[in-house]
Amino acid sequence: MRAPSIVAPGRIRRRAWHTALRAAVTGLALAAAAAGAADSPARTDGALLPRDSTEAAVFRGGLVYANYCVTCHGINADGNGRAARLHNPRPSNLRASDKNDNYINLIVRRGGEAIGRSPRMPPWGEELTDEQIGDVVAFVRSVNMRQP
Ligand code: HEC
Repeated sequence: MRAPSIVAPGRIRRRAWHTALRAAVTGLALAAAAAGAADSPARTDGALLPRDSTEAAVFRGGLVYANYCVTCHGINADGNGRAARLHNPRPSNLRASDKNDNYINLIVRRGGEAIGRSPRMPPWGEELTDEQIGDVVAFVRSVNMRQP
């Protein structure tokens, strides 16, 4: 009989780290792409991303997403997170979402049940700051198909 593997926890930690890193890199790539596309305001003081820019919000929102949303909505925001199969209805495919900023803000803050949808979408208003919610909304809007 094989002894229980002592490398397993390390492997799990490494995988979690990879996931977080991928999300961060994706966020940065998206932010860089957005920065390149937009005729962004003059960059004073050499900052990579001006704090109040959409690009910076999308980058910060990607980190919020990687911490709070990825288990259900997935690394590709397509609704196929690791825990997705535990939920019925399944987590939404955020890439295909046609919802606007206000709607996303509302469902993130108050949860699905408060707006007549599934309680499987938790409320995050107590957990996240207003800035984090604004940022994660910006992130979701940056990956979904609804036009500005
Ligand atoms: C525990 C699993 C779970 C987590 C974690 C979770 N969600 Fe959800 N989410 C759901 C489910 C399930 C639905 C679908 C609800 C329904 O169909 O009524 C949903 C729906 C949504 C929708 C609606 C999309 C649309 O087009 O209608 C948005 C936006 C959303 N989630 C964003 C987020 C964000 C942002 C986070 C992280 C802050 C998050 N979710 C975390 C399970 C989750």
